[in-house]
Amino acid sequence: MVKKVLILGVNGFIGSALTESILKNTDWEIYGMDMSDHKITEFLGHKNFHFIEGDITINKEWIEYHVKKCDVVLPLVAIANPALYVSDPLRVFELDFEANLSIVRQCVEYKKRVIFPSTSEVYGMSADEEFNEETTSLVLGPIEKQRWIYSCSKQLMDRVIYAYGVQRGLDFTLFRPFNWTGPKLDNIFAAKEGSSRVVTQFIADILHHQRIKLVDGGNQRRSFTDIDDGIAALMHIIENKDNKASGQIFNIGNPDNDISIRELATLILDLVKTYPAYKEIADRVTIEDVTSGDHYGRYYQDIQRRVPSIDNIKNVLGWSPTVTVKEALRKTLNYHLARPSAELNQQETY
Ligand code: UGA
Repeated sequence: MVKKVLILGVNGFIGSALTESILKNTDWEIYGMDMSDHKITEFLGHKNFHFIEGDITINKEWIEYHVKKCDVVLPLVAIANPALYVSDPLRVFELDFEANLSIVRQCVEYKKRVIFPSTSEVYGMSADEEFNEETTSLVLGPIEKQRWIYSCSKQLMDRVIYAYGVQRGLDFTLFRPFNWTGPKLDNIFAAKEGSSRVVTQFIADILHHQRIKLVDGGNQRRSFTDIDDGIAALMHIIENKDNKASGQIFNIGNPDNDISIRELATLILDLVKTYPAYKEIADRVTIEDVTSGDHYGRYYQDIQRRVPSIDNIKNVLGWSPTVTVKEALRKTLNYHLARPSAELNQQETY
């Protein structure tokens, strides 16, 4: 039975949405750490929410104490932004792999269940129509293409966790988000060029720059997944009824939301035009082509198509996504365009 959940990176996009769902729908207690708290301020006084400001690379004693104390651990701290994979690959390795490895090892030592965020990026440039957790090969580019350090770090962690499961009985679930999107992804008011995932970047581009940049023609495709669908899946995984999620790897994505980046740009632009206060700005926006070399630099390489098979999570946990890409974008835009510009100076965490 779940009683105490440890969430590291509780102020992140996934951590903050998960916190909301746990506090609203369960009596579980959350112990959460993050470097800031701007996405979780409304929960800070909740009796089941115990927050501490901290850094997983520094506050190691607090973490070890709480791994021992809690039933399930979600280490959600990671850099998950492609612009940073190419500009600071070592930081990606140090944070996403090294810093998380010691937490995973504590879960092994104290026999705690770990739910670890893998990524759709582990499949890399696989040509499979749908990416399957058991059968799809993980295809990465040459070393010079440093973009893959994220995929590779996550893949190595998947393999380490899996091996701890086989050799040392670690109780784990690996989940692979496919382009989850929603209100608290990144920060549109802080979205410098290349500092955000594509949905946030395009919204920021419309509002601040009156132009959208399409990398390499925008024919590459993603299966955008609404954060609420993703969180519903995670809730099943944490609950772990009849231990069904234990030892599993789950893609969590929406194959019906597979669209090209060019289509995404048009869709977001059309939606912004439906908000009277922003119509004039949106009418002035142009869609420009840019090469990946100019946009991200020589260390970047892209994925052309990325569709999840979700048979495993459907069969094992009975979960399916329900939110269309248009609805997901509408929810995101409602959140941002109805907010005051007080967010302007906020810092983003990952
Ligand atoms: C993302 C990130 O690596 C992670 O957030 C995550 O692990 C994973 O994939 C996921 O969420 O499933 P990617 O989909 O490439 O990778 O990230 P975006 O930055 O959102 O880019 C999507 C596509 O839009 C890329 O093809 C990119 O070249 C394109 N793009 C991005 C543009 O055309 N213009 C822009 O201004 C920004």
